[in-house]
Amino acid sequence: MQFDKPSTTNPIDQLKVVGKPIQRIDGQLKATGRAIYAYEWHDPSLAYVYGYPVGSAIAKGRVKSIDSTAAKKAEGVLAVVTTLDIGKLKKGKYNTANLFGGDEVQHYHQAIAVVIARTFEQARAAASLVRVDYAEDKGAFDLSNAKSTAVKPKDANGSPPDTAIGNFEGAFSSAPINLDETYTTPDQSHSMMEPHASIAVWDGDELTVWTSSQMIDWWRTDLATTLGIEKNKVHLMSPFIGGGFGGKLFLRADAVLAALGAKAVNRPVKVALPRPFIANNTTHRPATIQRIRIGAESDGRIIAIGHESWSGDLKGGGPETAVNQTRLLYAGANRMTSMRLATLDLPEGNAMRAPGEAPGLMALEIAIDEIAEKLGMDPIQFRIINDTQVDPENPDRPFTQRDLIGCLTRGAKRFGWTNRPKVGTRRDGHWLVGMGVAAAFRNNMVLPSGARAKLDNQGVVTIETDMTDIGTGSYTIIAQTAAEMMGVDIAKVAVQLGDSRFPVSAGSGGQFGANSATSGVYAACVKLREAVATKLGLNAQEIAFESGQVRSGDRSVSLSEAAGPNGLIGEDIMEWGDLTETHQQSTFGAHFVEVGVDVATGETRIRRMLAVCAAGRILNPITARSQVIGAMTMGAGGALSEELMVDTRHGFFVNHDLAGYEVPVHADIPHQEVIFMDETDPMSSPMKAKGVGELGLCGVAAAIANAIHNATGIRVRHYPITLDKLIGELPEIA
Ligand code: MOS
Repeated sequence: MQFDKPSTTNPIDQLKVVGKPIQRIDGQLKATGRAIYAYEWHDPSLAYVYGYPVGSAIAKGRVKSIDSTAAKKAEGVLAVVTTLDIGKLKKGKYNTANLFGGDEVQHYHQAIAVVIARTFEQARAAASLVRVDYAEDKGAFDLSNAKSTAVKPKDANGSPPDTAIGNFEGAFSSAPINLDETYTTPDQSHSMMEPHASIAVWDGDELTVWTSSQMIDWWRTDLATTLGIEKNKVHLMSPFIGGGFGGKLFLRADAVLAALGAKAVNRPVKVALPRPFIANNTTHRPATIQRIRIGAESDGRIIAIGHESWSGDLKGGGPETAVNQTRLLYAGANRMTSMRLATLDLPEGNAMRAPGEAPGLMALEIAIDEIAEKLGMDPIQFRIINDTQVDPENPDRPFTQRDLIGCLTRGAKRFGWTNRPKVGTRRDGHWLVGMGVAAAFRNNMVLPSGARAKLDNQGVVTIETDMTDIGTGSYTIIAQTAAEMMGVDIAKVAVQLGDSRFPVSAGSGGQFGANSATSGVYAACVKLREAVATKLGLNAQEIAFESGQVRSGDRSVSLSEAAGPNGLIGEDIMEWGDLTETHQQSTFGAHFVEVGVDVATGETRIRRMLAVCAAGRILNPITARSQVIGAMTMGAGGALSEELMVDTRHGFFVNHDLAGYEVPVHADIPHQEVIFMDETDPMSSPMKAKGVGELGLCGVAAAIANAIHNATGIRVRHYPITLDKLIGELPEIA
């Protein structure tokens, strides 16, 4: 099915199941430990053995030799497979760095060997006996040093590296009020709960891998390429995933090591990346340096807005697209954006939840707060004045929907914004108390998505798609979609995900999963409805699917009867026309935060959080809310604690575990409230939905930074806002 015209009324609009607060259909499995994750998959007929990786101890250079004699002699060891034994492998389409194979070292903790033993402990013990001799090269590890060497990248994730409209420099320098500030965001780690893990089983030349992947088809393609085998010989399974945040978008070393290890010992091999290995072996969100310039008239209208961003990556990588929201968020006749990329020999930088907008808004939304303050204007009023209903770089492209103003005003009322104190004036015992706001913005992408819908003679509808559920609620919203389309109770829907034998879906990423994958299920169900109609000799346009029955005039047939002993199948792919080009599809929101900052220690505690989101139709308010509060929590980490510390001498992230890389815990997070604006977007898909899982993160950290400023008068422009950045500036304790 091609979606190229705005949607009219369709069966989803009945909203008997879609849009309802239905509990996760996989919730019980998860809560009782019966959802089988990659490393837990167990077939008693197979005798598994364990692989433990060895990572490079240098960041750049060559592996000269590997001595695995002692490791091979250790108890329980079956094999040691080294990168030198394997030789150079072809690189997958979505990988920047080599995952394994050959003597070249591109980053610290790149996998250079895997030890296979009868038990996990034996493999781990023997891995410490592997001796490696390196030829080390000098690398570049410090973004602020490398900034001057940064170049214009060829491509910025599909968007141009530079844009320019009007006369930015002229308008900026002549503006009565202007701001020119530089902000920095650090390298951040996905730190998902479930580590990357794979179990590989060979059957002749056919490979089955149970793994933890957001994107089954990307992984399948890249695993086949890396191993030099046919894609159709690779079967991937990833039915449950313990979080990804972008860290599992692309094939990782665990799958390659498990496959090569299993080949070497001719037995099934399990490999999980150890937690201390993940920060440096896998991808991370790259640090940015962002310069923002805004010029405004004294009435508050922006006349010039410029945003430049510098980030680094391995050779062949791309920039963090931190300027992208600035191209779309506020009006202003004179504008410029640019992204520059430095070559760094740190681990590969890549997508992490809301890549681009998340760090971009961390900077932009402080800058907006700052210029509003210079104007003596309320920051909400400033954002309202500078709203735009069209793409400001290309005024012929309207937004399909844009209710940023609604989000800000509704949130202001709910949060009690009029009670915001004057900067640095509210005290509650030893706490300085303040409120902050930031706009939320994230683009709404759509990807082709396929599904198969089967109907059996019990009236059960089974959906098969290689879509993944990374904790987001895919199982549930897909079941809701099928139940709505086929007119059955949700208990009559079975959902099978994460298997490469199923139709290729959008996968989970870029907040495109929910809308794209349910649209694929919609398309498959349209086909299944047609199959039912054809079987019964009815016109598909004139029949209704209700309460497990197909109705046409007075005639009513149960779905189980219609299916018959052989059942019926509908399969299709949702493909997208040019509505995302003729129109700008984005999601909007507003984040409100109240903080207390300890006047003596500089410790920040978040007291209240509110998010208001305008993201099209909300398919399930429970799972959507869960996405948003999770994202707000991630934003709290981004604001206050998360930072991969770079060892700039040796080129690695020092705090590579959950003790040193501090994510928020329960005690850090106060009551969180989420409001969804009542919206449907007929331009987005037949579901009229959009993504919300990344929107919830966008702007949160800046709202916290702005609240800290309101509380203390201190403007911190370098994340995370740890107490050392506040303590010297705090007022004398009265
Ligand atoms: Mo998201 S960073 O595309 O998983």
